[in-house]
Amino acid sequence: MIEVQDLTKQYAGRVAVDGISFFVRRGEIVGFLGPNGAGKSTTMRILSGYMPPTSGSALVAGHDVFRDSISVRKNVGYMPEMAPLYTDMRVKEYLHFRGELKGLGGRELRRRTGEVMDLCGVTDVRRRLIANLSKGYRQRVALADALIHRPPLLILDEPTNGLDPTQIRHVREMLLDLRDQHTVLLSTHILSEVEQICDRVIMIHHGRIRACDTPRNLKNQLRAAAAVHLELQGNGKVIKELEKLPGVRKAVEEEPLEGWRVINVRVEARNDIREAILDLATREKWRVRELHQQLPSLEDVFVELAASDAPPRNT
Ligand SMILES: Nc1ncnc2c1ncn2[C@@H]1O[C@H](COP(=O)(O)OP(=O)(O)OP(=O)(O)O)[C@@H](O)[C@H]1O
Ligand SMILES: [Mg+2]
Repeated sequence: MIEVQDLTKQYAGRVAVDGISFFVRRGEIVGFLGPNGAGKSTTMRILSGYMPPTSGSALVAGHDVFRDSISVRKNVGYMPEMAPLYTDMRVKEYLHFRGELKGLGGRELRRRTGEVMDLCGVTDVRRRLIANLSKGYRQRVALADALIHRPPLLILDEPTNGLDPTQIRHVREMLLDLRDQHTVLLSTHILSEVEQICDRVIMIHHGRIRACDTPRNLKNQLRAAAAVHLELQGNGKVIKELEKLPGVRKAVEEEPLEGWRVINVRVEARNDIREAILDLATREKWRVRELHQQLPSLEDVFVELAASDAPPRNT
């Protein structure tokens, strides 16, 4: 559905996107992540046919984004970061207008306007001026706009930015419902959302792709964050003994809790040392009330990648 080859974008001599290549298969939901200024919005604008690249190529539904941007726009529902809504229009009027621009007409236009208003929860405010809507409601209108012409590909730039938690969940459920008919590329800073809905993640940093994999594989590859949380009562050599176990990098004593010692045992990647810790505790006659593995989160992956200056990986 999306094929990007060596895509580069320079703004006034500054490189915002630096030779990225990736693909998105039909039916996938792909999270596009990266720190502020990484180049996400720039890439999404190019893929939606709103801005030409400096060099490289991008195909969307088989159409070249630069040479054939009209066909690209028909196939893409793009929700920009800062939605350029016409603030002096009323919600329904605006969506009607946008649908018309995208080639809908007659009954189909009226039906789709009603459908996307329901889907995005703006039916109640359909007669309000967009200027008077809250930020979250404007986001919903922008999403309705992206969906109105039933595009096979949705490119959503921070679609849940500014929404309340209920609405964030609503958008998440909506995206999961849409996955049968749509392919989705979405950028967001809400990583729990990505873990829940994305099949794959593309991480970009300084305009280059740093990682591209399933959320699960990315977490498994992470070295820094694997740990075991331990609450026990024991003798003076607990830390020393724990650090002797093979696979342990460091045992860190934290604030005690209700008379129990709390220890965070940092572990080499892909080591499960829970049994070894229990055996040790039994031998040493420590009392254990809590022992569990802390798996790294996507947030850990993000922070590690954002901090690293490793060369980009091929995708
Ligand atoms: N119109 C523009 N003119 C000049 N520079 C720009 C323009 N738009 C973006 N940039 C620069 O290009 C780089 C990438 O910006 P971009 O908006 O793509 O980042 P982003 O990943 O979307 O960040 P954020 O998470 O903050 O939305 C930044 O350094 C930004 O300052
Ligand atoms: Mg952005």
